[in-house]
Amino acid sequence: MKILIIYGTTEGHTRKIARYMEDVLKDAGHIVTIADAADNPPAPDGYEAILIGGSIHMHKYQSAVAHYITANVSLLNKMPGAYFSVCLAVASDIKEEHDEAQKIANDFLLQTGWKPLMTSQIAGALKYTQYDFFKRMIMKMISKREGRVTDTSQDYEYTDWEAVKLFLKEFIGKASQKA
Ligand SMILES: Cc1cc2nc3c(=O)[nH]c(=O)nc-3n(C[C@H](O)[C@H](O)[C@H](O)COP(=O)(O)O)c2cc1C
Repeated sequence: MKILIIYGTTEGHTRKIARYMEDVLKDAGHIVTIADAADNPPAPDGYEAILIGGSIHMHKYQSAVAHYITANVSLLNKMPGAYFSVCLAVASDIKEEHDEAQKIANDFLLQTGWKPLMTSQIAGALKYTQYDFFKRMIMKMISKREGRVTDTSQDYEYTDWEAVKLFLKEFIGKASQKA
């Protein structure tokens, strides 16, 4: 299949996830194009399936991701697509945190009008070494609230790469049936 991956990122972790998806899909024999939503991304025409993802910062995704979806929504709703949401709330053991992350994704998709075949919640990363003092303090506080004891002198990655693979497998199965 000819597949397009569009991502939004603030600290780079969603790009890493999108590139991992690219590798997995290429290894499975697909033709993959990947682009940052903020960097003049290609339109979805001519592709057989699309994956779009963004990360949550202060309850919001990157505005470039919202712009891409709203600008292409009629085409997106005619092709097999999946939305992947990257955040830290889903790395928490607290159920309310997961519910909140799902609500942010659901509300976002509702606002854009896109109805993807699938959505996925992917745990992100804590990049303390990239944050300024203010961000480091906020993220330490949030992490504590979510039940994680962290050391701000190092980074943490919570992404379950096997779960990402399984999500892609399920999506390709569904997309192939639609194609
Ligand atoms: C300033 C800031 C605000 C964040 N706000 C949220 C949030 O509201 N909910 C959440 O679950 N994760 C939040 N996160 C965690 C990010 O979603 C997570 O670090 C993710 O891996 C970032 O992906 P990116 O590197 O692609 O931007 C926040 C992170 C930062 C630095």
